[in-house]
Amino acid sequence: MEKIRVVLYGVGAIGSRIAKFLLEKEGVKIVGAIDIAKDKVGKDLGEVLSIGKRLGVVVSNDPKAVFGKACADVVVHATSSYLRDVYPQIAPLAEYGVNVVSTCEELSYPYVSEPELAKKLDALGLKYGVTFLGTGINPGFLMDTLVITLTAVCQKVNRIKVERVMNAATRRVPFQKKIGAGLTVKEFKKKMKEKAITGHVGLEQSIGMIAGALKWQLDKIKIDPVEPVIARKDVSSEAIKVKRGQATGLKQSAHGFVNGKERITLEFQAYIGAEEEYDAVTIDGVPPIRQKISPCVHGDLATIAVIANSIPKVINAPPGVVTMKDLPVPSAALEHMRKYL
Ligand SMILES: NC(=O)c1ccc[n+]([C@@H]2O[C@H](COP(=O)([O-])OP(=O)(O)OC[C@H]3O[C@@H](n4cnc5c(N)ncnc54)[C@H](OP(=O)(O)O)[C@@H]3O)[C@@H](O)[C@H]2O)c1
Repeated sequence: MEKIRVVLYGVGAIGSRIAKFLLEKEGVKIVGAIDIAKDKVGKDLGEVLSIGKRLGVVVSNDPKAVFGKACADVVVHATSSYLRDVYPQIAPLAEYGVNVVSTCEELSYPYVSEPELAKKLDALGLKYGVTFLGTGINPGFLMDTLVITLTAVCQKVNRIKVERVMNAATRRVPFQKKIGAGLTVKEFKKKMKEKAITGHVGLEQSIGMIAGALKWQLDKIKIDPVEPVIARKDVSSEAIKVKRGQATGLKQSAHGFVNGKERITLEFQAYIGAEEEYDAVTIDGVPPIRQKISPCVHGDLATIAVIANSIPKVINAPPGVVTMKDLPVPSAALEHMRKYL
Protein backbone atom coordinates (compact mmCIF):
# COMPACT_ATOMS: atom_id res chain seq x y z
CA MET A 1 0.00 0.00 0.00
CA GLU A 2 1.32 3.43 -0.88
CA LYS A 3 2.29 5.57 2.08
CA ILE A 4 0.76 8.91 3.00
CA ARG A 5 3.38 11.56 2.29
CA VAL A 6 3.76 14.09 5.12
CA VAL A 7 5.73 17.32 5.39
CA LEU A 8 6.36 18.71 8.88
CA TYR A 9 6.07 22.48 9.16
CA GLY A 10 7.48 23.45 12.57
CA VAL A 11 9.73 20.95 14.31
CA GLY A 12 9.50 22.37 17.83
CA ALA A 13 8.30 20.71 21.02
CA ILE A 14 5.07 19.41 19.52
CA GLY A 15 6.13 19.05 15.86
CA SER A 16 9.13 16.92 16.78
CA ARG A 17 7.04 14.65 18.99
CA ILE A 18 4.48 14.25 16.22
CA ALA A 19 7.37 13.37 13.90
CA LYS A 20 8.63 10.66 16.26
CA PHE A 21 5.13 9.25 16.59
CA LEU A 22 4.65 9.19 12.81
CA LEU A 23 7.98 7.43 12.37
CA GLU A 24 6.64 4.57 14.49
CA LYS A 25 3.50 4.23 12.39
CA GLU A 26 2.90 2.24 9.28
CA GLY A 27 1.62 3.84 6.13
CA VAL A 28 3.16 7.28 6.60
CA LYS A 29 6.37 8.69 5.21
CA ILE A 30 7.92 12.00 6.25
CA VAL A 31 9.08 13.56 2.99
CA GLY A 32 10.04 17.04 4.15
CA ALA A 33 10.64 19.22 7.20
CA ILE A 34 10.51 22.99 7.57
CA ASP A 35 11.60 25.19 10.46
CA ILE A 36 13.31 28.54 10.95
CA ALA A 37 15.21 27.78 14.16
CA LYS A 38 18.95 28.23 13.53
CA ASP A 39 19.85 25.11 15.48
CA LYS A 40 17.67 22.97 13.18
CA VAL A 41 17.95 24.34 9.64
CA GLY A 42 20.36 22.33 7.48
CA LYS A 43 20.42 19.36 9.83
CA ASP A 44 19.06 15.91 9.11
CA LEU A 45 15.65 15.46 10.75
CA GLY A 46 16.93 12.37 12.60
CA GLU A 47 19.59 14.52 14.24
CA VAL A 48 17.04 17.20 15.20
CA LEU A 49 14.81 14.52 16.72
CA SER A 50 17.81 12.94 18.52
CA ILE A 51 16.79 9.45 17.45
CA GLY A 52 20.30 8.22 16.74
CA LYS A 53 19.84 7.73 13.00
CA ARG A 54 19.63 9.83 9.87
CA LEU A 55 16.34 10.01 7.99
CA GLY A 56 17.54 11.55 4.72
CA VAL A 57 15.24 14.55 5.25
CA VAL A 58 17.04 17.85 5.75
CA VAL A 59 15.25 20.54 7.77
CA SER A 60 14.80 23.51 5.47
CA ASN A 61 13.73 27.11 5.94
CA ASP A 62 12.57 27.28 2.31
CA PRO A 63 8.98 26.01 2.00
CA LYS A 64 8.94 26.58 -1.78
CA ALA A 65 11.95 24.32 -2.30
CA VAL A 66 10.47 21.63 -0.06
CA PHE A 67 6.99 21.62 -1.59
CA GLY A 68 8.38 21.94 -5.12
CA LYS A 69 9.60 18.36 -4.90
CA ALA A 70 7.83 16.72 -1.96
CA CYS A 71 4.59 15.58 -3.69
CA ALA A 72 3.07 15.69 -0.23
CA ASP A 73 -0.47 14.62 0.67
CA VAL A 74 -0.57 16.55 3.93
CA VAL A 75 1.33 19.09 5.99
CA VAL A 76 1.52 18.67 9.73
CA HIS A 77 1.86 22.26 10.86
CA ALA A 78 2.89 23.32 14.41
CA THR A 79 4.44 26.77 14.66
CA SER A 80 2.15 29.32 16.29
CA SER A 81 -1.21 29.95 17.97
CA TYR A 82 -2.47 32.93 15.97
CA LEU A 83 -3.92 32.76 12.49
CA ARG A 84 -2.48 36.13 11.43
CA ASP A 85 1.01 34.62 11.98
CA VAL A 86 0.14 31.26 10.51
CA TYR A 87 -1.81 32.45 7.45
CA PRO A 88 1.29 33.47 5.42
CA GLN A 89 2.81 30.07 6.19
CA ILE A 90 -0.11 27.87 5.18
CA ALA A 91 -1.99 29.88 2.53
CA PRO A 92 0.73 29.45 -0.17
CA LEU A 93 0.65 25.67 0.36
CA ALA A 94 -2.72 25.35 -1.35
CA GLU A 95 -1.06 25.84 -4.72
CA TYR A 96 0.96 22.68 -4.12
CA GLY A 97 -2.22 20.69 -3.61
CA VAL A 98 -1.41 19.70 -0.02
CA ASN A 99 -3.90 19.42 2.81
CA VAL A 100 -3.03 21.05 6.12
CA VAL A 101 -3.59 19.86 9.66
CA SER A 102 -2.36 22.42 12.14
CA THR A 103 -2.06 22.89 15.89
CA CYS A 104 -2.82 26.61 15.42
CA GLU A 105 -5.42 27.32 18.11
CA GLU A 106 -7.19 30.08 16.19
CA LEU A 107 -7.54 27.88 13.12
CA SER A 108 -9.60 25.38 15.14
CA TYR A 109 -12.59 27.70 14.72
CA PRO A 110 -11.24 30.71 12.84
CA TYR A 111 -14.60 32.40 12.30
CA VAL A 112 -14.70 33.98 15.78
CA SER A 113 -11.38 35.84 15.85
CA GLU A 114 -10.29 35.99 12.18
CA PRO A 115 -13.38 35.76 9.95
CA GLU A 116 -11.70 37.53 7.01
CA LEU A 117 -8.66 35.25 7.00
CA ALA A 118 -10.96 32.25 7.40
CA LYS A 119 -12.86 33.33 4.29
CA LYS A 120 -9.67 33.84 2.28
CA LEU A 121 -8.25 30.49 3.35
CA ASP A 122 -11.52 28.75 2.57
CA ALA A 123 -11.55 30.29 -0.93
CA LEU A 124 -7.98 29.07 -1.53
CA GLY A 125 -8.91 25.59 -0.35
CA LEU A 126 -11.88 25.47 -2.71
CA LYS A 127 -9.82 26.79 -5.62
CA TYR A 128 -7.02 24.24 -5.24
CA GLY A 129 -9.06 21.35 -3.79
CA VAL A 130 -7.29 21.18 -0.44
CA THR A 131 -8.49 21.12 3.17
CA PHE A 132 -7.33 23.19 6.15
CA LEU A 133 -8.00 21.90 9.67
CA GLY A 134 -6.89 23.33 13.01
CA THR A 135 -7.03 20.81 15.83
CA GLY A 136 -5.30 19.44 18.91
CA ILE A 137 -6.39 18.55 22.40
CA ASN A 138 -7.64 21.94 23.49
CA PRO A 139 -8.90 23.57 21.38
CA GLY A 140 -9.76 20.72 19.07
CA PHE A 141 -11.19 18.11 21.39
CA LEU A 142 -11.72 18.39 25.16
CA MET A 143 -13.63 21.65 25.40
CA ASP A 144 -15.42 21.46 22.05
CA THR A 145 -15.54 18.26 19.95
CA LEU A 146 -16.12 16.03 22.98
CA VAL A 147 -18.79 18.39 24.31
CA ILE A 148 -20.55 18.56 20.95
CA THR A 149 -20.50 14.75 20.74
CA LEU A 150 -22.08 14.44 24.20
CA THR A 151 -24.98 16.69 23.15
CA ALA A 152 -25.87 14.02 20.58
CA VAL A 153 -27.82 12.18 23.30
CA CYS A 154 -29.72 15.27 24.45
CA GLN A 155 -33.24 16.24 23.46
CA LYS A 156 -32.73 19.64 25.03
CA VAL A 157 -29.63 21.60 26.02
CA ASN A 158 -30.02 24.57 28.35
CA ARG A 159 -26.50 25.18 29.58
CA ILE A 160 -23.05 23.69 29.18
CA LYS A 161 -20.14 23.87 31.58
CA VAL A 162 -16.70 22.47 30.81
CA GLU A 163 -13.83 22.29 33.29
CA ARG A 164 -10.21 21.30 32.79
CA VAL A 165 -8.03 21.08 35.88
CA MET A 166 -4.38 20.11 35.46
CA ASN A 167 -1.68 19.50 38.02
CA ALA A 168 1.18 21.31 36.30
CA ALA A 169 3.73 19.33 38.36
CA THR A 170 3.17 16.44 35.94
CA ARG A 171 3.91 18.61 32.88
CA ARG A 172 7.04 19.91 31.15
CA VAL A 173 9.10 22.46 33.14
CA PRO A 174 8.75 25.15 30.40
CA PHE A 175 4.98 24.76 30.81
CA GLN A 176 5.25 25.17 34.60
CA LYS A 177 7.24 28.36 34.05
CA LYS A 178 4.84 29.60 31.36
CA ILE A 179 1.94 29.49 33.81
CA GLY A 180 3.83 31.50 36.43
CA ALA A 181 4.29 28.81 39.07
CA GLY A 182 6.56 30.02 41.87
CA LEU A 183 6.17 33.74 41.18
CA THR A 184 4.91 36.24 43.70
CA VAL A 185 1.49 37.63 42.80
CA LYS A 186 3.18 40.95 41.93
CA GLU A 187 5.67 39.23 39.60
CA PHE A 188 2.82 37.23 38.06
CA LYS A 189 0.86 40.41 37.28
CA LYS A 190 3.97 42.11 35.88
CA LYS A 191 4.61 39.13 33.56
CA MET A 192 1.00 39.26 32.46
CA LYS A 193 1.37 42.92 31.55
CA GLU A 194 4.53 42.10 29.59
CA LYS A 195 2.59 39.27 27.90
CA ALA A 196 5.15 36.75 29.17
CA ILE A 197 2.13 34.98 30.69
CA THR A 198 -0.68 34.82 28.18
CA GLY A 199 -3.02 32.15 29.46
CA HIS A 200 -4.76 29.61 27.34
CA VAL A 201 -5.45 30.33 23.68
CA GLY A 202 -8.55 28.62 22.36
CA LEU A 203 -11.40 29.25 24.79
CA GLU A 204 -13.06 31.63 22.34
CA GLN A 205 -12.71 29.09 19.53
CA SER A 206 -14.16 26.25 21.64
CA ILE A 207 -17.20 28.33 22.57
CA GLY A 208 -17.64 29.32 18.92
CA MET A 209 -17.46 25.70 17.78
CA ILE A 210 -19.99 24.45 20.35
CA ALA A 211 -22.39 27.27 19.50
CA GLY A 212 -21.84 26.63 15.78
CA ALA A 213 -22.75 22.96 16.17
CA LEU A 214 -25.87 23.70 18.24
CA LYS A 215 -26.86 26.61 15.96
CA TRP A 216 -26.86 28.96 18.94
CA GLN A 217 -26.55 32.56 17.81
CA LEU A 218 -24.03 34.01 20.27
CA ASP A 219 -24.50 37.66 21.32
CA LYS A 220 -21.01 37.70 22.72
CA ILE A 221 -18.11 35.65 23.98
CA LYS A 222 -16.52 37.01 27.15
CA ILE A 223 -13.01 35.89 28.02
CA ASP A 224 -12.05 36.70 31.61
CA PRO A 225 -8.53 37.89 32.34
CA VAL A 226 -6.01 35.29 33.39
CA GLU A 227 -5.70 35.09 37.16
CA PRO A 228 -3.06 33.51 39.36
CA VAL A 229 -4.04 30.47 41.44
CA ILE A 230 -2.65 31.26 44.90
CA ALA A 231 -1.01 28.41 46.82
CA ARG A 232 -2.83 27.74 50.11
CA LYS A 233 0.17 25.75 51.37
CA ASP A 234 3.74 25.11 50.22
CA VAL A 235 3.72 22.87 47.14
CA SER A 236 6.36 21.80 44.67
CA SER A 237 7.16 19.98 41.50
CA GLU A 238 10.53 18.37 40.77
CA ALA A 239 11.74 21.70 39.39
CA ILE A 240 9.79 24.46 41.15
CA LYS A 241 9.06 25.19 44.80
CA VAL A 242 5.97 27.30 45.49
CA LYS A 243 5.50 28.95 48.88
CA ARG A 244 2.10 29.51 50.46
CA GLY A 245 0.71 32.81 49.10
CA GLN A 246 2.68 32.65 45.81
CA ALA A 247 1.20 31.95 42.39
CA THR A 248 1.17 28.24 41.75
CA GLY A 249 -0.29 28.48 38.25
CA LEU A 250 -3.19 30.14 36.51
CA LYS A 251 -6.90 29.99 35.87
CA GLN A 252 -9.09 31.46 33.18
CA SER A 253 -12.79 31.33 32.34
CA ALA A 254 -14.80 32.12 29.26
CA HIS A 255 -18.50 32.59 28.72
CA GLY A 256 -20.81 32.36 25.72
CA PHE A 257 -24.07 34.32 25.82
CA VAL A 258 -27.22 33.71 23.80
CA ASN A 259 -30.06 36.25 24.07
CA GLY A 260 -28.32 37.80 27.09
CA LYS A 261 -28.11 34.48 28.97
CA GLU A 262 -24.92 32.58 29.67
CA ARG A 263 -25.28 29.21 27.94
CA ILE A 264 -21.65 28.06 27.72
CA THR A 265 -19.02 28.31 30.48
CA LEU A 266 -15.46 27.08 30.14
CA GLU A 267 -13.07 26.98 33.09
CA PHE A 268 -9.41 26.23 32.62
CA GLN A 269 -6.99 25.75 35.54
CA ALA A 270 -3.37 24.64 35.46
CA TYR A 271 -1.33 24.76 38.66
CA ILE A 272 1.20 22.88 40.71
CA GLY A 273 -0.49 21.04 43.56
CA ALA A 274 -3.95 20.47 42.05
CA GLU A 275 -5.24 17.63 44.18
CA GLU A 276 -7.47 16.25 41.49
CA GLU A 277 -6.80 16.51 37.77
CA TYR A 278 -9.84 16.12 35.59
CA ASP A 279 -11.79 17.11 32.50
CA ALA A 280 -15.50 17.49 33.17
CA VAL A 281 -18.49 18.30 31.00
CA THR A 282 -21.80 19.16 32.62
CA ILE A 283 -24.83 19.55 30.40
CA ASP A 284 -27.97 20.93 31.92
CA GLY A 285 -30.39 19.37 29.50
CA VAL A 286 -32.71 16.48 28.84
CA PRO A 287 -31.28 14.09 29.82
CA PRO A 288 -28.71 15.86 32.03
CA ILE A 289 -25.11 14.76 31.43
CA ARG A 290 -22.19 14.74 33.82
CA GLN A 291 -19.07 13.31 32.28
CA LYS A 292 -15.71 13.27 34.02
CA ILE A 293 -12.33 12.08 32.77
CA SER A 294 -9.98 11.54 35.65
CA PRO A 295 -7.07 12.10 35.57
CA CYS A 296 -7.38 14.82 32.94
CA VAL A 297 -6.15 13.88 29.48
CA HIS A 298 -2.41 14.48 29.03
CA GLY A 299 -2.26 17.49 26.71
CA ASP A 300 0.95 16.82 24.79
CA LEU A 301 0.38 13.10 24.24
CA ALA A 302 -3.18 13.74 23.19
CA THR A 303 -2.33 16.62 20.84
CA ILE A 304 0.13 14.38 19.03
CA ALA A 305 -2.54 11.68 18.77
CA VAL A 306 -5.34 14.00 17.62
CA ILE A 307 -3.11 15.50 14.92
CA ALA A 308 -1.90 12.10 13.65
CA ASN A 309 -5.36 10.53 13.83
CA SER A 310 -6.80 13.45 11.88
CA ILE A 311 -4.46 12.94 8.92
CA PRO A 312 -6.67 10.44 7.02
CA LYS A 313 -9.79 12.46 7.84
CA VAL A 314 -8.26 15.67 6.51
CA ILE A 315 -7.16 13.97 3.30
CA ASN A 316 -10.71 12.67 2.82
CA ALA A 317 -12.47 15.89 3.84
CA PRO A 318 -14.12 18.27 1.41
CA PRO A 319 -11.92 21.22 0.34
CA GLY A 320 -11.81 24.52 2.18
CA VAL A 321 -11.54 25.32 5.87
CA VAL A 322 -13.09 22.59 8.00
CA THR A 323 -13.34 22.30 11.77
CA MET A 324 -13.61 19.24 13.99
CA LYS A 325 -17.37 19.58 14.08
CA ASP A 326 -17.51 19.20 10.29
CA LEU A 327 -15.56 15.95 10.13
CA PRO A 328 -16.78 12.39 10.82
CA VAL A 329 -16.71 11.24 14.47
CA PRO A 330 -13.07 11.46 15.55
CA SER A 331 -11.29 8.17 16.14
CA ALA A 332 -7.83 6.67 16.39
CA ALA A 333 -6.01 5.49 13.27
CA LEU A 334 -4.05 2.68 14.86
CA GLU A 335 -2.73 0.53 12.08
CA HIS A 336 -1.49 1.23 8.56
CA MET A 337 -2.69 4.83 8.14
CA ARG A 338 -3.71 4.27 4.54
CA LYS A 339 -6.43 1.85 5.76
CA TYR A 340 -8.29 4.76 7.26
CA LEU A 341 -8.54 6.72 4.05
N1 LIG B 1 -4.49 22.95 19.78
C1 LIG B 1 -3.81 22.38 20.74
O1 LIG B 1 -4.34 21.62 21.54
C2 LIG B 1 -2.33 22.63 20.86
C3 LIG B 1 -1.56 21.76 21.65
C4 LIG B 1 -0.18 21.97 21.72
C5 LIG B 1 0.40 23.05 21.06
N2 LIG B 1 -0.41 23.89 20.35
C6 LIG B 1 0.21 25.04 19.64
O2 LIG B 1 1.07 24.55 18.64
C7 LIG B 1 2.10 25.51 18.40
C8 LIG B 1 3.45 24.82 18.43
O3 LIG B 1 3.71 24.38 19.75
P1 LIG B 1 5.18 23.98 20.22
O4 LIG B 1 5.10 23.73 21.68
O5 LIG B 1 5.73 22.91 19.33
O6 LIG B 1 5.98 25.35 19.95
P2 LIG B 1 7.54 25.54 19.72
O7 LIG B 1 8.30 24.55 20.56
O8 LIG B 1 7.82 26.99 19.86
O9 LIG B 1 7.77 25.08 18.20
C9 LIG B 1 7.44 25.83 17.09
C10 LIG B 1 8.53 25.64 16.05
O10 LIG B 1 8.11 26.26 14.83
C11 LIG B 1 9.18 27.13 14.41
N3 LIG B 1 8.63 28.23 13.63
C12 LIG B 1 8.10 29.40 14.07
N4 LIG B 1 7.72 30.16 13.02
C13 LIG B 1 8.02 29.46 11.91
C14 LIG B 1 7.89 29.72 10.52
N5 LIG B 1 7.38 30.87 10.07
N6 LIG B 1 8.30 28.78 9.64
C15 LIG B 1 8.82 27.62 10.09
N7 LIG B 1 8.98 27.32 11.39
C16 LIG B 1 8.59 28.22 12.28
C17 LIG B 1 9.83 27.59 15.69
O11 LIG B 1 11.11 28.13 15.45
P3 LIG B 1 11.67 29.26 16.49
O12 LIG B 1 11.83 28.53 17.79
O13 LIG B 1 12.95 29.72 15.89
O14 LIG B 1 10.62 30.33 16.55
C18 LIG B 1 9.86 26.29 16.47
O15 LIG B 1 10.96 25.47 16.09
C19 LIG B 1 1.96 26.56 19.53
O16 LIG B 1 1.30 27.69 19.02
C20 LIG B 1 1.10 25.86 20.54
O17 LIG B 1 0.37 26.78 21.34
C21 LIG B 1 -1.73 23.69 20.23
